[in-house]
Amino acid sequence: MAWRSALLFATLVGAAVTTQRHVVPNRYIIEFEDGADTAAFYSKVDRGEVHQRKKFDYQLFKGASIDLSSHSEPDHALKDIKDIPGVKVWPVTKIPAPNDKVVWTGIPNDLEQTELLKRQEGDPQQDVFSTHVQTQIDLLRAKGLTGKGIKIAVVDSGIDYTHPALGGCFGADCLVSFGTDFYTPSDDPKDCLGHGTHVAGTIAAQQNAFNFTGAAPGVTLGAYKVFGCADGTDNDILIDAFNRAYEDGADIITASIGGPSGWSEEPWGVAVQRIVEKGVPCTLAAGNEGFSGMFYAATASSSKGVLSVGSVDNTVDTELLIESNYTVSGGDVAQFGWMEGVPNFWGGVSYPLQAAGFDITNEEDGCAPWPSSAPRLRGKVALIRRGTCTFVNKARLAAQAGAEYVMFYNNVPGIIPVDVSEVPAIKGVAMVTAEVGEAWIAALKSGEEVVMSMADPLDVERVLLTSGNNITGGSLSQYTSWGPTFELDVRPVIAAPGSMVLSTYPVEIGTYSVMSGTSMATPLVAGVLALLAEARGTLDPGLLERLLANTAKPVLFNSGEGSSNLYAPVPQQGNGIIRAYDAAFTKTVLDKSTISFNDTENRLKSTTFTIFNQGDEDITYDIFNLPAATAFTKGSADAIYPSEFPNDLSEVYAELAFDPQQVTVPAGGEAEITVTPSPPDSLDEARLPVWSGWIALNGSDDSTLHLAYQGVSGSMRAQRVLADGYLIIVPPGVPVDFSFVFEHAPENINFVLPPKGLANQTMIPLSLPGPAIDLSMGTTTVNVEIITPDGKSLGPHPESPLKFRPRQISPLAWDGELADGGFAPEGSYKFRIRALKIFGDEENEEDWEEAETVAFGIEYLVLGNDGTLRLPSAGP
Ligand SMILES: *[C@@H]1O[C@H](CO)[C@@H](O)[C@H](O)[C@H]1NC(C)=O
Ligand SMILES: *[C@@H]1O[C@H](CO)[C@@H](O)[C@H](O)[C@H]1NC(C)=O
Ligand SMILES: *[C@@H]1O[C@H](CO)[C@@H](O)[C@H](O)[C@H]1NC(C)=O
Ligand SMILES: *[C@@H]1O[C@H](CO)[C@@H](O)[C@H](O)[C@H]1NC(C)=O
Ligand SMILES: *[C@@H]1O[C@H](CO)[C@@H](O)[C@H](O)[C@H]1NC(C)=O
Ligand SMILES: *[C@@H]1O[C@H](CO)[C@@H](O)[C@H](O)[C@H]1NC(C)=O
Repeated sequence: MAWRSALLFATLVGAAVTTQRHVVPNRYIIEFEDGADTAAFYSKVDRGEVHQRKKFDYQLFKGASIDLSSHSEPDHALKDIKDIPGVKVWPVTKIPAPNDKVVWTGIPNDLEQTELLKRQEGDPQQDVFSTHVQTQIDLLRAKGLTGKGIKIAVVDSGIDYTHPALGGCFGADCLVSFGTDFYTPSDDPKDCLGHGTHVAGTIAAQQNAFNFTGAAPGVTLGAYKVFGCADGTDNDILIDAFNRAYEDGADIITASIGGPSGWSEEPWGVAVQRIVEKGVPCTLAAGNEGFSGMFYAATASSSKGVLSVGSVDNTVDTELLIESNYTVSGGDVAQFGWMEGVPNFWGGVSYPLQAAGFDITNEEDGCAPWPSSAPRLRGKVALIRRGTCTFVNKARLAAQAGAEYVMFYNNVPGIIPVDVSEVPAIKGVAMVTAEVGEAWIAALKSGEEVVMSMADPLDVERVLLTSGNNITGGSLSQYTSWGPTFELDVRPVIAAPGSMVLSTYPVEIGTYSVMSGTSMATPLVAGVLALLAEARGTLDPGLLERLLANTAKPVLFNSGEGSSNLYAPVPQQGNGIIRAYDAAFTKTVLDKSTISFNDTENRLKSTTFTIFNQGDEDITYDIFNLPAATAFTKGSADAIYPSEFPNDLSEVYAELAFDPQQVTVPAGGEAEITVTPSPPDSLDEARLPVWSGWIALNGSDDSTLHLAYQGVSGSMRAQRVLADGYLIIVPPGVPVDFSFVFEHAPENINFVLPPKGLANQTMIPLSLPGPAIDLSMGTTTVNVEIITPDGKSLGPHPESPLKFRPRQISPLAWDGELADGGFAPEGSYKFRIRALKIFGDEENEEDWEEAETVAFGIEYLVLGNDGTLRLPSAGP
């Protein structure tokens, strides 16, 4: 019997929702602790038993990244490595490419201005860039600060240094003066993805056709490329890049990269933490998973001392639009800006407009069939107001009346892309602003003819259109990820504008773009750190963090509909939006940036902080509690999973007592304040409420400082972590970093596994059994065992234990090999999954949660002498 026919029974049960599969099989990070037996490790490398992908010989990280996938018995090889004294082994995990939203890309209208621009030292022009005005960067720039002489390393997709606003060259004397490509790898860190070039422009763009600059145009940049043109990256690449940037002498390192975590102990995060401890500030994005609710802090921003940056919305919406012409009753040619939708075959269209209706307040414009008495829409552009029914519905009704082209006008400020590709008759769809649309309606209503003359979106220049965002501008972005970490550190620490940010983009894919994400907020803060370093003459990461955090301004909660009158919880905003000028010139410095009062079981009964008055005059401070909305982690008392954004909020707050409540600190002196919290007692602890706010200090010098605090009512240890553990069928060839969710497999499926010891014969398309570990909260440790149906253990799965897992579903596959390097005999098995509770004690049985999968059978293919594969049961 040929092996192919044996595969028929193993079908994929189904793929429904998606999740990230993080661990890369057979690849590991090795770290040598002091006194490790490195000789034993290298002799394995020399003998070819272990393939070393990277050698880490850094001051702050010694070890390697290894690949065992060409090994005939990778799990056996792994066990041998784990047995070497002083060797620590971590799995390589995938970090997805940043999921920030590219809102628009395009080149500026005035092409001449894209010529190489001279670097500007003083930047005399007034800085009116909205994100700079929101954060007081404009005030520092007006003082002539540019971050001159500071080196910022950008760990990202590289930088398109050929961009005229990014210096046009790479190397000494260039704006992008150092760095390398870890992804390919090569010496050339030029960006093809776009993300890194956008980040670089936010830090250091030179004056350009769009009249903006980066926050710190006087710095030099290092480009540490860790992404290709599309893919994600791996944590071993990130460890490599951060350590190289540190040894290359970067003053500040920034990375708008991360994946769900909530633990500070992950290897990449630990590597970043060590760099911070050596005096190099590192800014990391908090993540764009706000919709996932609380306890979703990202790696490496969860690690100690790392400056985790959340996002607030820009006060200005910026769009790059296409410019085209129109005429009213054959009069002068006028221009208008529009945004293409899908489909976009607009090139050469020159048709008159026909309106669905003349009422510019009609909520339902175009939602009813076009009257049969009206002229057919063929050879016209249907003009329809946005609102009530869907764009697709409106396009379908227009198509029924003969339309091939539809122009929407907005009913709110701004302009958005529209997709009506479901309506086959439509060749082109687009949107204009309410203003433009209403002007056209007025002309049509008075009997004029409006004729469009459309440019081809594939072949045009674009113009910049800005409009005020008075709904969410200045509030936390809905996408910004929520903390705290599972160990209850405050995350994020601060926030900065990250939505609708205009910046540079690779020349070949647009030159400029507007993007939204915490990725855009993070480099702004890195640029501000350079300005602060210049203003205060220090790069001390702890001091810079405290300066930014304590001068930041808490903002009100906004679910997206408009501002509420409650402050947004600390787990969403940390200390709030940064104020760069206040941070640079504050005379008052505190010794803490955040305070965590922990949970009920580990409650910090009281704590202290110290006020330093670095000014020349005595300052009297009034100290008071500024509470934020209390946020419930869970939607109900019996919920297992945290609820999605927006969480239920409560106006029941903690009270804080201060001793003393008012203090006069002499010039050059200091004072210690004791803080004692009284947690609210009427909240349902089963829903895990997180109460928070700020200790506010009003100084007699008119200064206001804030110190974020948070506490949890309830027990982290009591939270269920293992929501489910079930059997899955892992189909052959599912890429390890691919989003995929597996459904529960039925009982008693028989799996045919690869021949023993030939697991690396990846050409054989076999489905494997595996456990899916569904974690409703994070855990430091998951153990997976192979057991017989009556509960006898054959030992751990080779990838067990899984360490520091976020709350998400982690799937594993199993090819029959055991952690001791042997193989399970053919027969029937289950997976037993055990997860340690948060703050649990490994030695305490009660702190473990357990799940068992249904039973499944295994048998192995046999490799015959003639090289053919067959089932043992098929006989010779
Ligand atoms: C599998 O491992 C064996 C033994 O180490 C090796 O000879 C063979 O080339 C490997 N096969 C693949 C496809 O990597
Ligand atoms: C840039 O600024 C100059 C001078 O203030 C002005 O003439 C020009 O229109 C501005 N360009 C854009 C795209 O805003
Ligand atoms: C718009 O009008 C200008 C002249 O006013 C002309 O150069 C340009 O080609 C026109 N564009 C389109 C798309 O018709
Ligand atoms: C927001 O801006 C729009 C358009 O400019 C305006 O109609 C509206 O009144 C503004 N709302 C507030 C609350 O200021
Ligand atoms: C909260 O308490 C736990 C258990 O003692 C501890 O591990 C954790 O570090 C504490 N968290 C903070 C932020 O102090
Ligand atoms: C503290 O100062 C701010 C800003 O000056 C002011 O709005 C607030 O009312 C003051 N609060 C107290 C309690 O003095």
